[in-house]
Amino acid sequence: METERFGRTGLDVTRIGFGSWAVGGSGWFGGWGSQEDEDSIGAIHRALENGVNWIDTAAVYGLGHSEEVVAQALKGVSERPYVFTKCELVWDEEGNVGNSLKADSVKKECEDSLRRLNVEAIDLYQIHWPNPDEDIEEGWQAMADLKSEGKVRHIGVSNFDVGQLKRAEAVAPVETLQPPYSMLNWGVEEETLPYCAENDIGVINYSPMFSGLLTGKMDKERAQNLPEDDWRSRHAEFQEPRLSRNLELVEILEKIGAAHGSSPGEVAIAWTLRHPAVTAAIVGGRRPDQVDGVVGAADLHLDDLELARIESFLKEKP
Ligand SMILES: NC(=O)c1ccc[n+]([C@@H]2O[C@H](COP(=O)([O-])OP(=O)(O)OC[C@H]3O[C@@H](n4cnc5c(N)ncnc54)[C@H](OP(=O)(O)O)[C@@H]3O)[C@@H](O)[C@H]2O)c1
Repeated sequence: METERFGRTGLDVTRIGFGSWAVGGSGWFGGWGSQEDEDSIGAIHRALENGVNWIDTAAVYGLGHSEEVVAQALKGVSERPYVFTKCELVWDEEGNVGNSLKADSVKKECEDSLRRLNVEAIDLYQIHWPNPDEDIEEGWQAMADLKSEGKVRHIGVSNFDVGQLKRAEAVAPVETLQPPYSMLNWGVEEETLPYCAENDIGVINYSPMFSGLLTGKMDKERAQNLPEDDWRSRHAEFQEPRLSRNLELVEILEKIGAAHGSSPGEVAIAWTLRHPAVTAAIVGGRRPDQVDGVVGAADLHLDDLELARIESFLKEKP
């Protein structure tokens, strides 16, 4: 699979990385319904077989469970992929999730992630959300300290806007950003992506298929019957009136994909990869066959006519 230089980290990463949110399983507010670890491990192995060289996870996914599943999958793997994780979302004994960017909390979270992931150092450590806003500087200084101590190799942020990126930059260089970016969420095109391109900040965009909505496998019936413990059952884009409009977009992606032998999801991912500021896309998968259905996006190049067809839909039906 093609690789790209990941901004200031200097790492060469494949244009698709494996996203491990859903493999965290259910039992917390961000769960995706039931998930078998065996399927998750199979999906991670399939991604590696396809040449994917990095995995994104977070401490909060499944309240530590996603990191444990990643560690299990990587046991005995001859060439370990890069492992990226995140801090800032913390939880108590009852599983209530809160935010902290206090230095002692960030440092404790890092120790917990190192233990769960069973790695000597985290390849990229990211602040998950800029919350609380007033503690951004303190949290980012703690991240820079962890890098100096060698516990993490590179540091980045997620969900930061340009103002917040600049505040972090005043403390220590920001190597990477992880923003949401898809056809259903493209606000970062205006200011954030151009700022990252100008400042050599590597960008890995998340939810390029809008968490499954743009795959072609999420029809009206499935979206309206998602189990209660799947967070998507509470999301407006998976409900009317937005759902019908979003499925109309999927029909266009299906037609474009058919000409390339690609799935609608691959078209959705390739659309994000066309942006010059985007280094690579983080794509979630829950089973090995799902991974097979998305990796082709790394080599899919949409032509001007295809891009114009998508742009005109997005403009006509914002
Ligand atoms: N930093 C942040 O705040 C943040 C937020 C969100 C995500 N992320 C990261 O980004 C990653 C990717 O985002 P995401 O998981 O939300 O969304 P995504 O990559 O847009 O969609 C992934 C989902 O699509 C479905 N899918 C995958 N391959 C498929 C296929 N071949 N055919 C049909 N359906 C398929 C699966 O869900 P179903 O089978 O259940 O439909 C899968 O969980 C996450 O795992 C996480 O690492 C970060």
